[in-house]
Amino acid sequence: MDNLPYILAIESSCDDTSAAVMHGNKVLSNEVASQEVHTAYGGVVPELASRAHQQNIVPVVDHALKVANIEPSQLNAIAFTNGPGLMGSLLVGTSFAKSISMSLNIPLIPVHHMHAHILAHLIEDAHDEPIDFPFLCLTVSGGHTQLVKVDGPKDMQILGETIDDAVGEAFDKAAKIIGLPYPGGPHVDRLAKVGDPKFMEFGRPQVDGYNFSFSGMKTSFLYALQKRVKENPDFVENHKADICASYQRALLDVLFKKLEKAIKDTGIKHVAIAGGVSANSGLRERLTSLGYRKNIRTYIPPFQYTTDNAAMIGIAGYYNFLAGDSADLSISASAKVKF
Ligand code: KG4
Ligand code: ZN
Repeated sequence: MDNLPYILAIESSCDDTSAAVMHGNKVLSNEVASQEVHTAYGGVVPELASRAHQQNIVPVVDHALKVANIEPSQLNAIAFTNGPGLMGSLLVGTSFAKSISMSLNIPLIPVHHMHAHILAHLIEDAHDEPIDFPFLCLTVSGGHTQLVKVDGPKDMQILGETIDDAVGEAFDKAAKIIGLPYPGGPHVDRLAKVGDPKFMEFGRPQVDGYNFSFSGMKTSFLYALQKRVKENPDFVENHKADICASYQRALLDVLFKKLEKAIKDTGIKHVAIAGGVSANSGLRERLTSLGYRKNIRTYIPPFQYTTDNAAMIGIAGYYNFLAGDSADLSISASAKVKF
């Protein structure tokens, strides 16, 4: 027998209800219930998300415990996302975690959602060889775009972040304009693979330092298409893949400009990507080729740890547990919690 803790982890910050059981840094189960209800609305409807979390949370946790073959009495702690995210969604996971902590009399461990995306790289089966500190992490999701210097599991600093929309939003909003289902990122990715990335040009907003801006790109996308559609009403239908490939290239250019600047300025030779958009195949290829070109070690997370999942909350919870960082029952969900 080892002394590693069994931790139940809950993620409910947006539109995925997820529960995982960890044994130290090892994932025993990682169950995700994605909410299909939002597809019809072309985006996440907060009230519906909260209601779906309430319906999903008990069966998802139950399933995670069954898959892990762990009894509630064996759990040593409960970790949960306390922010950032949608308030109504966060509240469901927070209340659930509090009630488990109280009934089992085990520590309650709050986890920052964005720390968790990064720490997913520390999960035992995330990489063949463990990731080395310090590393730079480009965290790209539907709600955030951040460039982070990571010196240790509990020692990280934001170098730059978006001043408006997240890159995931830029994917999703453009996808909606050309009639792709929500969330559009994976659809743009799929079409971009067979399109011409040089087919058309989109503006690339300039921001100082390591910060990003994406709201102008969506507008540039809309105007560029409106102009072409005026000349040819079938333009979008005839060139969907080329449009996606060109737009994806523009978004990746913006991300890589800042990432390459950070690599150069800091001299850090280990670079990771995290968050839902790190599932993007163009981003993955480009990071790999940057690694070869600049002799940099690159870390690409397995798909199951890119989009929102509870295993990443579990690994972050594990490091909080080791540091003795737990909360009492007065803790509340926080839509905007400090990094
Ligand atoms: O991390 P995540 O699951 O949730 C947030 O915390 O926001 O990220 C969701 C975002 C969505 O914007 C979705 O379109 C995007 O990740 N995404 C992708 C891909 N897969 C998911 N974007 C581009 N290419 C993909 N393959
Ligand atoms: Zn996320």
